[in-house]
Parts: sequence; structure tokens; C-alpha cells
Amino acid sequence: MEERLEHQQLDSYLEPRLQRIERALREYLPATDKKPATLVEAMRYALLSGGKRLRPVLCIASAEACGAEMETVLPTACALEMIHAFSLTHDDLPALDNDTLRRGKPTCHVQFGEAVALLAGDALFAKAFEMIAQQSRLSPPGRVIQVLALVSHAVGTNGMVGGQVEDMHAESGAPTPDDLEYIHTHKTGSLIRASVLAGGALAGAEKESLVSLDNYGKFIGHAFQIIDDILNETGDPERLGKAVGSDRERQKATYPRLFGLEKSQETADNYITKAVNALQDFGSEADPLRWLAQYVSKRDH
Ligand code: IPE
Ligand code: IPE
Ligand code: MG
Ligand code: MG
Repeated sequence: MEERLEHQQLDSYLEPRLQRIERALREYLPATDKKPATLVEAMRYALLSGGKRLRPVLCIASAEACGAEMETVLPTACALEMIHAFSLTHDDLPALDNDTLRRGKPTCHVQFGEAVALLAGDALFAKAFEMIAQQSRLSPPGRVIQVLALVSHAVGTNGMVGGQVEDMHAESGAPTPDDLEYIHTHKTGSLIRASVLAGGALAGAEKESLVSLDNYGKFIGHAFQIIDDILNETGDPERLGKAVGSDRERQKATYPRLFGLEKSQETADNYITKAVNALQDFGSEADPLRWLAQYVSKRDH
């Protein structure tokens, strides 16, 4: 009963925010009627063809938990989704996971060719930082610089890209639990964690609140990738909009491979509990973050 209520509350929370995010993403990208039309088409294809929009939602929910309004963080929220779309476009390339389906559609390189997909990813990545710079129209420069620093750190060598490289190296190898933790907290955890933190930073949250948000983001980011691994084994490909069983085929380093499905779900649930506990100093203003944490462990796509 309580679970159903939370679900309904989350849905009503999400609806207007998702609509606003979709509209903003569309507006921030260039139109396709001028050069370089193919590049822009591929960027739009990669960014605007579905997706749960979890990272911008987390940024907004975190900002709101610290007293800021959605409109004041939209450029950064959208930048985080652009970085995510870039990472998926490159992740699907033949040189990486070699996937042909994403969000229920052919992957960007299947649709536009490898060269254009690679460059569309590059351009989305650059556009993201342009958006963060534009955040200075709405926020004090010090906060924008803080966001630039934390986001660039989260996606680079010691963040997402580093995690992707270790993910690749672990294929067919004999990854240890430590390797697995590194891969998950970096390739996926870092950007999710940065999304939460960016919202708090833009809202001008106090140090203690930022520490709590950082812990929350760290735990749900880790849980999110464990569930991604589980869904790659047990999910419905129609619902997921991407391949199932591909991790096993490629002998990827995953939680189910090392620990089995049951233990993996248990580990993810423990991280969700820790994420919620990290918010104990927040009141009801952080409820959406709590609902989102529950959603992460129970999601089916
Ligand atoms: C999938 O991310 C890839 C990972 C980093 C685990 P999402 O599950 O958030 O994908 P979309 O954006 O909803 O398609
Ligand atoms: C994707 O991880 C991580 C990044 C794109 C940075 P996966 O390769 O496990 O995600 P899916 O299953 O393709 O969405
Ligand atoms: Mg991958
Ligand atoms: Mg992949």
C-alpha cells in the first residue's frame, strides 16, 4: 500500500518535470536545417529518442531539496543528459559494446554510420559544457565553477571514462570484487553522483547537506548499475529497448556473474537503504529523492 502511494507520488512529481526537460533538451540543440545537418540530426537522434532522464531529474530533485526551483538549474540538468547521451552513443559503438539497439531504436552508429556517431557523441559532450557555462546566466559564477569542476572530474579519467576502460579490460578476464566495484562506481556511478551534487551546489547548499547528497548519489549510482546488470539477465528486451543477455555473451564484469542474481539484488537494495539513510537530516523536501531511490531498485527498464 505504502509502496503504491510512493509510486503515485513519484509519478505526479515526475510528469511536469519530464515534460520540461524534454522541451528544454529540444530547444538547446541546434535545428537540422543548416550545416552540419547530418551531425545535428545524429545528435538529436541520440539525445531525443526516449530515455528515463534520471540524471536531469536527480539534479532537479536535489536542487529542490535544497530550496531552489527547477527553472534555475535546467541548463545543467540538460547538460548531464547530454553527457549521458554521448556516453551511450560511444558505449554502443563496435569498438566498445557493439550494440545495435538502444531505447527501442537502432543505435546511433547503425542509423548514421560509425564516423558520424562518434562525432555526434563528441559534439554532445562539448555542448554539455557550453550549457554549464550558460548556467552563469542563472547562478552565481562561483557555483557554476563548482559544477564545472565536479562534473568534468566525474566524467573524465578518474570517473566515467576511466570506468569504461576498466569495463573493457575486464571483458573475458577474471575481475575481482574490487575491480567490479571500481567499474560500477566509475562508469555509471560517477555521473549519477555528480548529477545529485550539481543540483545541491547550484542551490547553494551548506557543506553538510552536500556531504549527505554526495553519499546519497554514491549509493544510488552504484545500485543503479547493479540493477542494469540484473536487467541484462532477466529483463524484457521490449521494455528495456536494448539487448538482453549481451553481458554474458561478452563475458562482461557484472554483479550477477560474480555473485549471482539474488545476492546482486540484495546488494543493490542495501545500497538503496544506505542512500535513503544518507538523507536523514533532510525533511519532506527530499521526499522525491527518497522515492527515486526506491524506484532505482525496483525499476524494470
Ligand atoms: C543506461 O542508462 C546505461 C547506464 C549507464 C547504466 P539508463 O538506464 O539511464 O538509460 P536511459 O537514459 O534510460 O536510456
Ligand atoms: C554503460 O554501461 C556505461 C556508460 C555508457 C558510461 P553498460 O554498457 O553496462 O550499459 P548498457 O547496458 O549498454 O546501457
Ligand atoms: Mg558498456
Ligand atoms: Mg553497453
